[in-house]
Amino acid sequence: MYRYLPIRKVYAREVLDSRGNPTVEVEVTVGEGIVGKDGYTGRAIVPSGASTGKFEAVELRDREERFGGLGVQKAVNNVNTKLADAVLGENVLEQGRIDSLLLEADGTENKEHIGANAVLGVSMAAADAAAKALRIPLYQYLGGCLAEKMPVPMMNILNGGKHADNTVDFQEFMIIPSGACCFKEGLRMCAEIYQKLKNILKTEGLSTAVGDEGGFAPDIKGAREVFQLMERAVREAGYEPGKEICFAMDAAASELYEEAEERYVFPGESQMTGEKVRRTAEELVEYYDALIREFPLVSIEDGLWEEDWAGWKMMTEKLGEKVQLVGDDLFVTNKKRVEKGICLGAGNAVLVKLNQIGTLTEALQTVEKAQHAGYRTVISHRSGESEDTFIADLAVAAGAGQIKTGAPCRGERTAKYNRLLSIEDRLENQACYENPFTKYPA
Ligand code: PGA
Ligand code: ZN
Repeated sequence: MYRYLPIRKVYAREVLDSRGNPTVEVEVTVGEGIVGKDGYTGRAIVPSGASTGKFEAVELRDREERFGGLGVQKAVNNVNTKLADAVLGENVLEQGRIDSLLLEADGTENKEHIGANAVLGVSMAAADAAAKALRIPLYQYLGGCLAEKMPVPMMNILNGGKHADNTVDFQEFMIIPSGACCFKEGLRMCAEIYQKLKNILKTEGLSTAVGDEGGFAPDIKGAREVFQLMERAVREAGYEPGKEICFAMDAAASELYEEAEERYVFPGESQMTGEKVRRTAEELVEYYDALIREFPLVSIEDGLWEEDWAGWKMMTEKLGEKVQLVGDDLFVTNKKRVEKGICLGAGNAVLVKLNQIGTLTEALQTVEKAQHAGYRTVISHRSGESEDTFIADLAVAAGAGQIKTGAPCRGERTAKYNRLLSIEDRLENQACYENPFTKYPA
C-alpha cells in the first residue's frame, strides 16, 4: 500500500556535543493530521569531527563570539527557513527525493551554502520520522528484511593524535572481537579487555584518563609499545591475541603529514626519544609491515595522507593482501572519491561517516558502490558525538559488517553499543555476526 506521510514541520535547535561544542539537532514532524496531535516526530543530532578530511562537506560554523566562534545558529536558521521550505508537504517515505530537494536548496558541491550539518540533520530526522510513523525500528525501515547482519565492533581502547593530549601520535588503537559468536559476546570481551588495560596502565604508573572517544590516553612512546600493552590486556582478560581478538589502528596520517618536508612527522615519539622522528611514505609502510608481522594487526585506517593516491596504491600493493586498508580522509564517504580509489586500487575498505557527505542517500550510495567493488565498509561515529544512535541502526541496515564507535566508555559511545544490543535482541535468531577477517590469519 502506498502511503503519503507529509512533512508538517521541520525544526532545528543548537545543542551540545560530547566535547561541549554546539551542534545541530533537527526535529521532523510528519502525519496526515494536525501537528502536535497525531503526528510523529523524528529527531537527529549531527556529529562533528576533529581530524576532519580536507575533502569533507562543509560544516557551517558561525565564526562569531559565542561559543568561541563554533556556534551553529546560521545552520539552525538555514534548517528553519530554507530547508523547511524545501521539504514541507513532501512525503517523508521518499527519502531519495527529500535528499535531492535538500541538495537543490544548497546548490553547491560541498554543501558550503547551507552547511552539511544543517542538511544532514534534516536528512536523518526525516528517516527517523518515517520509521516512527510506520512504527518499525529505524534499521528495518532503512534496510528492509535483509537487515540482519550485526556489525563487528572495532573498539577504540587507546586514543592519541588529535583526540588526546598525550604523546601517542597515531590517533586510534582498537580491538576487534573477531572470534565472538555474536555482537553481545563480542562487546563483553572488549569491555573486559578495556578494564584489564586500565589496571595495567595503573600498575605501570600511566594515566587512565580518557580521550575524546573514550579510549585511555597515556604517554607512551610509540605504536609497538601500545600494542604490547594491548596484548597483555587481551591475555589477562583470558583471550588469545590473533585468535579471538585482533587489532586495528587509525593512523590518521593526514594529521602527521608535513607537505613542506614531504615527510610524516611524529612529535610525540620525538619527545619521548629525544630525536626528531620523521618518515617517508615508504618508511611508514615498512613500519606498518613490521607491526603486522609482530602483532595481530588486521586493519589500518588512513595509513597515508588524503592526497597521496600514488602512495595509497603502493601501500595497497604491499599490504592489501595482508590487512584491511580503510580510507577515511581519503574517501570522505564520497562516491566519486571511492570510484577513483577502486579504479586505482587504493585501499580495500571505506569508512562511512554521514556528515562527511551530508545526506543519507549519498552515504548509502557510497556504501553500495564500495560493496559492489568488493571493498569492505565500516560505519563510523565522529570524535564529537551525542546520544543519537542513528549509526547503530545504519550499520545493521546497510549490512556494513563493521562499526567504529569508540570505547565502552562515555555515554555517547555506549549509547550506540547499547542500541546494537537491543537490535540484536529484537532480531533474535535472525541476527548474524560474521568475522570479516578470516582472510587475514594472524
Ligand atoms: P574525527 O575522527 O571524527 O575527529 O574525524 C574519527 C576518525 O578519524 O576516524
Ligand atoms: Zn579516521
